[in-house]
This record gives sequence, C-alpha cells and structure tokens, in this order.
Amino acid sequence: MANQRTLSIIKPDAVAKNVIGEIYSRFEKAGLKIVAAKMLHLSKEQAEGFYAEHKERGFFGELVGFMTSGPVMVQVLEGDDAIAKNRELMGATNPKEAAPGTIRADFAQSIDANAVHGSDSPESAEREVAYFFSSDEICPR
Ligand code: PPS
Repeated sequence: MANQRTLSIIKPDAVAKNVIGEIYSRFEKAGLKIVAAKMLHLSKEQAEGFYAEHKERGFFGELVGFMTSGPVMVQVLEGDDAIAKNRELMGATNPKEAAPGTIRADFAQSIDANAVHGSDSPESAEREVAYFFSSDEICPR
C-alpha cells in the first residue's frame, strides 16, 4: 500500500459543534498521522478558489457561503492509502446515505453542512495540500 498525503477540512458546522478532537481521534485510530494543521476563517476568494472545479454547479454559492460562515480546521493526513482511508472514515457526501459509524453519519446534518472534506484522488490531494500549506509547514514523522 502506498504512503500518501491527503487534505482534510473540518467544516464550520463540526467546528461549531466542538468535535475537532473527536474527529482527530478517528484519524489517529485509523493509523493516519496529522502532519500539518491550521485553523482558518476562509475568505470568499479562498473558498471560491478551493472549490473552483464546482463553480458551474447550482449549489456553488451555498457551498462557498457555508464554508465562509465560520472557522474551519485544515489538516494534512499521512499514512498508507490515506486518501481512500479518509474518505471511508468520512462516509457518503449526503449524511443520510453515510454508513453508520462514519464521521458524517455521526456529526453531519445535511448535504450542505456535512462536517468534513477529504481529497478524492492523488491529483486533487496534491493540489489541495499545496493550496493551504507550504512544504516547510508539513512535518512528516
Ligand atoms: S464529492 O464528495 O466531491 O464526490 O461530492 P460532490 O457531490 O461532487 O460535491 C462536491 C462538493 O460540494 C458539496 N455539495 C453541496 N454543497 C451545498 N449544497 C449541495 N446541495 C451540495 N451537494 C454537494 C459537497 O459536500 C462537496 O464538498 P466537499 O467539501 O468536497 O465534501
């Protein structure tokens, strides 16, 4: 299995619920290491740039509005098969369809306030990690 890095965001709804530690605990129990982290309140420009691939979708305005509604916790996770492992921990995009015991099943309310983001491919992981972190902010262990 390949050692990978992936970009994870704990979204404003989960930060407001005060469950950052519970979510970090799930990453760690699954063998993922947090090798970089920062709390940010995204600007409209930052959120629009991050989600640029979705700009033609009908929900783009709601997505940007939600992601700028409060602070987010952004981290780089590292480990074997980290991209798929994180997506498995997250559960389906729509929390109503998320498997029991996943982060979204346990902490998310709706498809537009769904607790967490995770990169969906090696290409997006590379772009997304670089969007938020310079190489000297990442501490491999
Ligand atoms: S995914 O996980 O990328 O396959 O999901 P996708 O359906 O392509 O959605 C891309 C991101 O848009 C968010 N989303 C929405 N936001 C607001 N309203 C609606 N209806 C909606 N549908 C999808 C979804 O949570 C994805 O955000 P991220 O941060 O990538 O999880």
